[in-house]
Amino acid sequence: LSHFKGKDFVELSDYTAEEINFLIELAIELKRKQKAGEVYRPLEGKTVGLIFEKSSTRTRVSFEVGTYQLGGHALFLSKNDIQMGRGETIADTARVMSRYLDGIMIRTFGHENVTELAKYADIPVINGLSDLGHPCQVLADFQTIVEQKGKLKGLKLAYIGDGNNMAHSLMIGGARVGLDVYVASPEGYEPDPAVIKQCEQLAAESGATVKVVRDPQEAVQDADVIYTDVWASMGFEEEQKIREQAFADYQVNEALVSHAKPDYIFLHCLPAHRGEEVSAGVIDGPNSVIFDEAENRLHAQKAIMAALIG
Ligand code: CP
Ligand code: NVA
Repeated sequence: LSHFKGKDFVELSDYTAEEINFLIELAIELKRKQKAGEVYRPLEGKTVGLIFEKSSTRTRVSFEVGTYQLGGHALFLSKNDIQMGRGETIADTARVMSRYLDGIMIRTFGHENVTELAKYADIPVINGLSDLGHPCQVLADFQTIVEQKGKLKGLKLAYIGDGNNMAHSLMIGGARVGLDVYVASPEGYEPDPAVIKQCEQLAAESGATVKVVRDPQEAVQDADVIYTDVWASMGFEEEQKIREQAFADYQVNEALVSHAKPDYIFLHCLPAHRGEEVSAGVIDGPNSVIFDEAENRLHAQKAIMAALIG
């Protein structure tokens, strides 16, 4: 564990496959401990700040509860209520907060806000979602896949829809650990070309296949895991109508999932829109493990905090 101490958690590319697998195993162990009622408090006397520039249900609650369960204290800091919302620089915010806190999580629009905070803070900075990535979610997703399938390497994950922060972190994480990731997006909504390029390099080392395709059926063919996310992410609400048209052929529904392996699992980071990116039959059906996945946010982030801050 000491190996991780003081590190930031900005994107999964900052960690090796061994380190990611270690954090997943730690998350599974912390889940077991919590359910067995075993006390584990590596954050005793420590304080974690949670900066939010966007809405959140899972991230906020799981970080607050997780910090408490580890023996620490969490502060919810809405960007509009701290001076950052009135123009105090991220660099100054980072240097001031480093004098009080033992770790910071930030959810923000621009990814450069995360890297800037990490640059100037002396304490670990955790990316709780930016426009570029959502690595905490992917660690919880990978934990869920390991629980359900016993491994990551060699499996095929199909991501259907917007080439957004979720697509990016799934591609990067998959490329790192050797999980094949096929992303199917409509024209104009593909993942960031720079992320695709980065994944090609990472995948060459791990042996994973990371591929962006147009046809959802090609992505889903024989998949072990099917993943989707909202068509209009936070900050893109005004594009809802035009996105509904662009993504009309990209709904994860019964017809599409019939091409996957019969024992495929369905994942969604949530919040979800039934009847848009996923049919109610699929998301509420027997292959869906979305609430285990949501629960695992708690355990995965406890693993991150125990390793980095504990
Ligand atoms: N999946 C996720 O990050 O959910 P919240 O936006 O509710 O935190
Ligand atoms: N892509 C979504 C994920 C929400 C957890 C968004 O950024 O709004």
